[in-house]
Amino acid sequence: MGVRSWVRSWLGRRLLAKTGGQLDLSQLSAVPAQFQLPFLRTDTDPVPELAARRDREPVTRLGKLLGLNIWMVSGYAEAREVLGDRDGYSNDIRPYVGNRNTSDANDIGGLGFTDPPDHTRLRRILTPEFTRRRLQRLEPLIAATIERQLDQLEALGPVVDLVKDFAFPIPFTVICDLLGLPIEDREAFLELGPARFDVTSGGMGALGAGAESRTFIIEAVRQQRENPGEGLIGQIIKDSGKDGRDEVTDLEIAGLADGVFTGGYETSVSMLALGSLVLMRSPEAIRMLVDEPDSVDQIVEEMLRYLTVVQIGFPRFARTDHLLGGQQIKTGDPILVSLSGADRDPRQFAEHPEEFDPHRNPGQSHFAFGHGLHRCVGAELARMELRAAFLALARRFPNLSLAVDPGELEFQQLSIVYGIKSLPARLTVDQPATV
Ligand code: HEM
Repeated sequence: MGVRSWVRSWLGRRLLAKTGGQLDLSQLSAVPAQFQLPFLRTDTDPVPELAARRDREPVTRLGKLLGLNIWMVSGYAEAREVLGDRDGYSNDIRPYVGNRNTSDANDIGGLGFTDPPDHTRLRRILTPEFTRRRLQRLEPLIAATIERQLDQLEALGPVVDLVKDFAFPIPFTVICDLLGLPIEDREAFLELGPARFDVTSGGMGALGAGAESRTFIIEAVRQQRENPGEGLIGQIIKDSGKDGRDEVTDLEIAGLADGVFTGGYETSVSMLALGSLVLMRSPEAIRMLVDEPDSVDQIVEEMLRYLTVVQIGFPRFARTDHLLGGQQIKTGDPILVSLSGADRDPRQFAEHPEEFDPHRNPGQSHFAFGHGLHRCVGAELARMELRAAFLALARRFPNLSLAVDPGELEFQQLSIVYGIKSLPARLTVDQPATV
């Protein structure tokens, strides 16, 4: 999902190109204040200023950077217009890239920063791995991992950290298995996760962690070229050049694997952690999960809408001068779509869109997975994990409650993927459940 790419490639390299290589955004100590609005939250909620801006100006200028207007789109209809228009906007950052010597680890791209026909070719390599049939293969692993973690919580209880022992291990195990990363490498890889999305101190932490994990993946691909494993990396290697299929280079595979890891891991961790917090605050949702398990689809969709943890889509660049939401956009202007703003737009989600309502049925109309050409490849996998995990959590611990004062919770500040650092929870209460 790429904060490192967003920071390094989009802003950093543009700045770099414009300043003849003198300035490197990775050295900046903070994201400039006027661009922070789509990332700011209090607890699970985007700051009120985001809603105020959306209701006043669904397409708004955040500021100017070296002659470029940076736009934020937070209205639902306008966001749909941008995300759904492949001819009007480009995701390709390469035209703006400066002439800097880069290593492989800095260079591997990702689907989110690529336009057709490259995007079509690369995405076609990935999609067979995400069909319902292929994903069903992961169901037993997902169920077993969830049970293992619930047992572990029970052993550690009564007070546990739901981030460390529930939200992290589930998607991590699944994504490592999906990619086919060897067990012995997983521990080291684990360390590199959350640092990648954190832009609190400009870009340095995220950039360092990003380059390290990419080096790690490139190495894994090289090893599997010799000896292809069972997972996605091995499968792509085996299919490469077969039956008229395109040859795929190590760097391309590493880029895809990196995109899957980056896109699929931290996002799911955040949804599991923040979703657990939402459940602890909604005894009604827990009751529904326990008594009417079929309600899980609706509850998970509402949770995805309400939390919209991926706060902005990949940057889009205008291909022409045009009007959008009454604003004059110029060719090349970068556009940030505030997915969390759009998902709380009262013009789309009537009746208190700022609240989590387990009885609301938003269907799949929300933008938690984006929309259009770059819509999340892993949406169905994520849904499988979330549905299974929340059902099992509610069944096993129907009396789950927050073990600290809400004010003590520490959220991930200024991160493209909004998250929480730890989530102390009490597994049981003395009194019987009131739900
Ligand atoms: C709850 C979990 C997840 C959330 C909230 C999420 C969110 C998103 C969003 C919002 C986008 C599109 C952004 C845009 O249009 O600009 C996206 C793209 C993507 N996601 Fe996810 N994602 C999740 C899980 C996953 C998983 C499990 C995988 C893979 C295993 C994955 C892989 C990707 C990839 C590869 C893309 C780029 C697609 C493209 O550009 O064509 N994501 N995701």
